[in-house]
Amino acid sequence: MHDRITGRPSAHATLAFYDDQHPPAGDFLADVLDGFSRTPKQLTPIYFYDAKGSAIFDEITALPEYYVTRTELAILDTIGPELAALAGPGAVVIEPGSGSSVKIRKLLNALSEPAAYVGLDISGEHLEAACQEIAADYPALQVGAICADFTQGLDLSHLPLESGRRIIFFPGSTIGNFEPNGAHALLAGFRRAMRPGDAVLIGADRVKDPATLVAAYADAQGVTARFNLNLVERINRELGGTIDAGALSHEAVWNPDFNRIEMHLRADADQQFDVAGRTFQLREGESIHTENSHKFTPDSFTSLAKSVGFDVLHTWSDEAELFSLHWLEPSAKA
Ligand code: AVJ
Repeated sequence: MHDRITGRPSAHATLAFYDDQHPPAGDFLADVLDGFSRTPKQLTPIYFYDAKGSAIFDEITALPEYYVTRTELAILDTIGPELAALAGPGAVVIEPGSGSSVKIRKLLNALSEPAAYVGLDISGEHLEAACQEIAADYPALQVGAICADFTQGLDLSHLPLESGRRIIFFPGSTIGNFEPNGAHALLAGFRRAMRPGDAVLIGADRVKDPATLVAAYADAQGVTARFNLNLVERINRELGGTIDAGALSHEAVWNPDFNRIEMHLRADADQQFDVAGRTFQLREGESIHTENSHKFTPDSFTSLAKSVGFDVLHTWSDEAELFSLHWLEPSAKA
């Protein structure tokens, strides 16, 4: 059962609604123990973003090698008038995984008289703060929040909003973190929540020369290395782990079989460590696989979208074709 659109106390006063769908909290310990029991060892990237990891990620977005964020922002600047024309007035913008405050502001500023913004995030605290900032800065906008896990589908059936055209905004190439099956399921979840005429505006990083890709994930200043190592340090901090992070080396490799950058932490020497009373071994040279970041071509992204039941009406890229934004609409026949 969900708490639906009840009048909430003053903490939510500036929001038009707060829909708590009570997403189950991720089980960090269980996921870590499961990942360390596999061969090769792996961890899921959702746990990168504690307060420290989020701050390091912000540093990543400003790195000279990490073209992703600045390129997407530049594309958004260029296509603003086109987006305004496509969306029309009165659009309802929905942002799963809200938090990219610079990007959503660019979109809201570009659109003509958007009616509403709805943030959706698994972390209620984070969500509320982000949405209240938007509400404060855009007094003409209705701003609401949905606390939910967007990987489990979107339930937009109770939005207490005028039935303006809905635009689901999913920037940053977050889609790249998902394996092909997961990316399909994620988009299918978006698709099921959409009505005819609604759209998805989604960012997807592109396949390009491996040297550029590897540099973006193995920067000269070692910021991405700190980001990667923070994951095992978080295990030590929060789960009583005894991992020797100083004996792990950050690695980013291009895997051409899956068109993805993989991040690993590779053991410089044999080590044995504990997490919550369980003992694990790492051999010298063995790695913990911490992230996949899948890259797309216009064709590979289009075939993914089509397989879900979307038409790709527009694809915009920067001149160097580093990154693309795509405009998807439910295909008529699906
Ligand atoms: C937030 C998943 C889009 O894959 O580029 C950046 C995360 N990891 N540097 C990405 C990330 C290392 C980022 N995404």
